[in-house]
Amino acid sequence: MSLNYGVLLSGGGTNFQAIADHIAQGVLPGKIVLVISNKESAYGLVRAKKMNIPALAVKRKEYISEEAYYKAVGDLLEEKKVDYIFLAGFMRILPESFVHRFEGRILNIHPSLIPKYCGEGFYGERVHQAVVAAGERESGATVHFVDAGCDTGKIILQEKVPVYPQDTWEDVASRVLNVEHEIYTKAILKVIKEDGHGKKSAD
Ligand code: GAR
Repeated sequence: MSLNYGVLLSGGGTNFQAIADHIAQGVLPGKIVLVISNKESAYGLVRAKKMNIPALAVKRKEYISEEAYYKAVGDLLEEKKVDYIFLAGFMRILPESFVHRFEGRILNIHPSLIPKYCGEGFYGERVHQAVVAAGERESGATVHFVDAGCDTGKIILQEKVPVYPQDTWEDVASRVLNVEHEIYTKAILKVIKEDGHGKKSAD
């Protein structure tokens, strides 16, 4: 059985690119069957098209309610028979109904050492700005399962990076992002193995 992956993103999509590259290199079994962005301008959609991966923007304002929006997003993913959904810089909080529909099969990457600098208001560059402002000497990245809370799901993998006194938030962001590109794939491998998709059955 081949594993099918769906990706949700809102921006540049470097994490999505790293996962796709690892699949192309044979490091990660399976296939990305659909990329959905809530933003039409997301560069992640361009990346997907360059790799011939089906990709589309599904905009919140085109739906009458949050519920209807996520029902549509979920239907698209289900039509593609996704086994797992990877949030890769998806800057929206998923409603409980969506989380339950894909229970235990949604992963997220967050650019801090959860439980530090996470939850509502902490996303993207804001995380790194807060880390530098607080004078932290380390930060990092976390891959976790998505539950009904915000960045509260079970942690799968975490990796630390140093923060130096002279660092700008951009320095920290780029150091963390490099780590993100490695640990997302490692975390996915861990999950699919634990779920019983051994190397043989997953490719
Ligand atoms: C990444 O740093 C990711 O951890 C973060 O957004 C960036 C997306 O970069 N996600 C969050 O802050 C979610 N709370 P990318 O589009 O280049 O992958």
